[in-house]
Amino acid sequence: MAKVKTTFFCQNCGAQYAKWQGQCNSCKQWNTIAEEVIQKPEKADWKTNSSPTKRASKPLRIKDIDVSEEARLNSLDSEFNRVLGGGIVPGSLILLGGEPGIGKSTLLLQVSLKLPFKTLYVSGEESQKQIKMRAERINPESNNCFILTETKTQNIFKQIEALEPDVIIVDSIQTLHSDYIESSAGSISQIKECTAELIKFAKETATPVILIGHITKDGHIAGPKILEHMVDTVLQFEGDRNHVFRILRAHKNRFGSTNELGIYEMQGSGLREVSNPSEILISKKEEELSGNAIAATLEGMRPLMIEVQALVSTAVYGTPQRSATGFNAKRLNMLLAVLEKRAGFRLGAKDVFLNITGGITVDDPAIDLAVVAAILSSNEDEPLQNDFCFAAEVGLSGEIRPVQRVEQRILEAAKLGFSTIFVSKYNKISLKGTTIKVQLISKIEDLVGFLT
Ligand code: TYD
Ligand code: MG
Repeated sequence: MAKVKTTFFCQNCGAQYAKWQGQCNSCKQWNTIAEEVIQKPEKADWKTNSSPTKRASKPLRIKDIDVSEEARLNSLDSEFNRVLGGGIVPGSLILLGGEPGIGKSTLLLQVSLKLPFKTLYVSGEESQKQIKMRAERINPESNNCFILTETKTQNIFKQIEALEPDVIIVDSIQTLHSDYIESSAGSISQIKECTAELIKFAKETATPVILIGHITKDGHIAGPKILEHMVDTVLQFEGDRNHVFRILRAHKNRFGSTNELGIYEMQGSGLREVSNPSEILISKKEEELSGNAIAATLEGMRPLMIEVQALVSTAVYGTPQRSATGFNAKRLNMLLAVLEKRAGFRLGAKDVFLNITGGITVDDPAIDLAVVAAILSSNEDEPLQNDFCFAAEVGLSGEIRPVQRVEQRILEAAKLGFSTIFVSKYNKISLKGTTIKVQLISKIEDLVGFLT
């Protein structure tokens, strides 16, 4: 009998070793190296019964390369299209990651039910009946979507050859296993092999394949890091499970920008596209409350009005607490230090809590001024006028710094009926004929006068 071939893989980062060792040289984790059986495939090809089609590639002058057949498939889901850069590129491999229960299966099932092409949804996680039940909640009328529950790639390819679908969805890559590799499903070598087979299939037939990937507890896609290099696009589906909003972003995209963002709302009947997020993220309140401020932020190319809430209270215990949800805690500490040193607010003995409503995380620096305004408003217990909004970065010396594409933010604020927007004096603004008042400020003290 031929000797069984084995190799050692780090289960954390995917590094390969010839023999076992206690610590991984590349990611420095202990006890993560495990032996996996690998068998060199005699003929690792997605087509098992026909000869492989090997077209030798020739160099072409760049202007002679024909891109007309690269027309993207329109998924009829405007948020999904936007994040992908305008639709699904034929022959591309898309990996969708996200926490368990966030709605990855729901999103892709919904996309496959909507697609006006023949789609094959391969699930290794749920039975056909379970998927049918889910589909009935979303969109019961679809003639184009086929469901297959199978985990062996060779069997999947057999079904694909018979059905000839236009789009393939695999839920999830960690449940697949290939005959050519003997280790268990979900192991590094299986994930690598199954992805390689799917890539080969996708590129040879120009069929797009969308994979769902589980993530580890620190937020990375489970499996080898190389998986993210192998695929064309890596999407992340995120959000707070206790909130209804879900955000789809591209972390890597060979065919579009990674700045775009898709927003969905989880409902009883699946995910609803949110085309005008600002109206939902800010709650128009009748009474004015202290500690609330609205920021005009940009996520990707889209303006997004976000509500910031702060609570400043006298610390009961010795060390004051600082906590931030949806905002970088280090940045909060920095802004507090600026307020203390440059504007003379005694916040050193106060607890400060900050919350971005809607369960979303913001890293646009333009939110700084709204954070400062919310903290000052809570500290003084003076509500801000509820038709004020803010868009500026705060620097270490307390200066109000300009932000990019301020005009787009101003227009969004005007559209939503805000009366005044506070921006940096150093922003160049050439807008004419807007209904909103643009208040230019250059330092934090300028803001204090408006807190009444
Ligand atoms: P699911 O797509 O199974 O998550 P994942 O594949 O990322 O693990 O989503 C599961 C959650 O979505 C579940 O908690 C129920 C909720 N959900 C709805 O609220 N409405 C719906 O119509 C569907 C199908 C799911
Ligand atoms: Mg799932």
